[in-house]
Amino acid sequence: MKTITTQVGIIGGGPAGLLLSHLLHGSGIDNVVLELRDRDYTVQRVRAGVLEHDAVELLAANGLGERLHREGLRHGGIHLQFAGERHHLDFEALIGRHVWIYGQQEVVKDLIAAHEANGTPARYEIADARPVDLETDHPRVLFTEGDEQYELRCDFVVGADGFHGISRLAIPPADRVAYEREYDFGWLGILAHAAPSSDELVYALHERGFALLSMRSPEISRLYLQVPPDEDIADWPDERIWDELDVRLGLPGWTLERGEIFDKSVTPMRSFVSAPMRHGSLFLAGDAAHIVPPTGAKGLNSAIADVALLRRGLVEHYAGDDATLDAYSDTQLSRAWQTQYFSTWMTRMLHSFSGPDAEFDHNVQLGQLAQLVSSDHAKAHLAEFYTGLPIHG
Ligand code: FAD
Ligand code: DHB
Repeated sequence: MKTITTQVGIIGGGPAGLLLSHLLHGSGIDNVVLELRDRDYTVQRVRAGVLEHDAVELLAANGLGERLHREGLRHGGIHLQFAGERHHLDFEALIGRHVWIYGQQEVVKDLIAAHEANGTPARYEIADARPVDLETDHPRVLFTEGDEQYELRCDFVVGADGFHGISRLAIPPADRVAYEREYDFGWLGILAHAAPSSDELVYALHERGFALLSMRSPEISRLYLQVPPDEDIADWPDERIWDELDVRLGLPGWTLERGEIFDKSVTPMRSFVSAPMRHGSLFLAGDAAHIVPPTGAKGLNSAIADVALLRRGLVEHYAGDDATLDAYSDTQLSRAWQTQYFSTWMTRMLHSFSGPDAEFDHNVQLGQLAQLVSSDHAKAHLAEFYTGLPIHG
């Protein structure tokens, strides 16, 4: 068995793990990232697209803003569409904040480039990661790389290995609680070579279900449709997708730009929180600890908020102060439940629900939306959450 020694062992080389590693490196804290998949796979995953105001400031303050500011799209608001009308919410005017459209794939590419420039790349294609001795001050992560067995000796282990990772499961079942809710729908998402048909995102409630018009660049549109969670993508040829988007997003005098679809998938929806987010020397961050339904784009941003606070806690720990680290789990669980509230609220307001009360519920949603767009207080409430809760980095 080969031994590697570091200060912080990070399991998972997604956005949470790579960003934490980058932030720690910048603060002089030695760390190693262990990633199950190969590098190209981690870049290819098409996921989130909206970065909150403070998340972008954090990335920029840590040397990750150059391409983001050049190629990203700064959006000062969103559109909400229902009952055949589109309403603009102007976040800048309401609360003086904005968001950026910049794909998670691009954030990961920038992080990988920064790691390579620093000479601190993640270790890819590792297998069987097992965090052990977590109740001590000398935890280890055992893993396999090629034919070789390794032990990573560290002061702390961070589980940033997503919802399907193993870190959370290293906490004894008696010491953790999982709160979970499944939804009876998912999102069919596409990427298309088509100029975005709107200046800013359009969230639409329609009798046939939710639709979202988003984008990645002036040439690439990202669009979503509410579908059953187990929907077979084979049942959705490109023509059917565009026709359905036309129905749900259509307005008189407005046309949806079509183009070649180069990626399509169905994502089920889930709410999940695992508590606590710390067990001894193990800290959980990002999707390893919490998942939200995607309406409102909070998943990636929550992962960024977790690792920002974790960096601060670890820096203070090595300076002799454990207060932030000791409060990490409570602080981030409170944030996770606030985010859970916003994502659930947006999801319930904008999706179609089946069952005996479906028509009643749809009318309640229309009432809710009508009040929302007619009240600056209600719009500011949405804007405050959408542009992001404070990130304590
Ligand atoms: P992940 O991105 O899941 O990264 C975890 C990493 O750990 C992965 O690289 C994985 O390979 C690695 N790993 C897993 N197990 C192990 C192991 N045993 N050993 C070592 N490494 C391991 N959010 C939004 O805001 N908007 C969206 O539109 C959106 N769409 C999404 C679509 C999909 C299909 C999914 C799954 C998520 C989506 N999300 C979206 C959520 C958002 O992408 C996540 O919140 C974000 O990726 C969280 O980052 P993370 O680093 O915590 O986890
Ligand atoms: C995107 C995803 C979201 O969940 C959302 O609320 C807005 C945009 C996107 O992928 O572009």
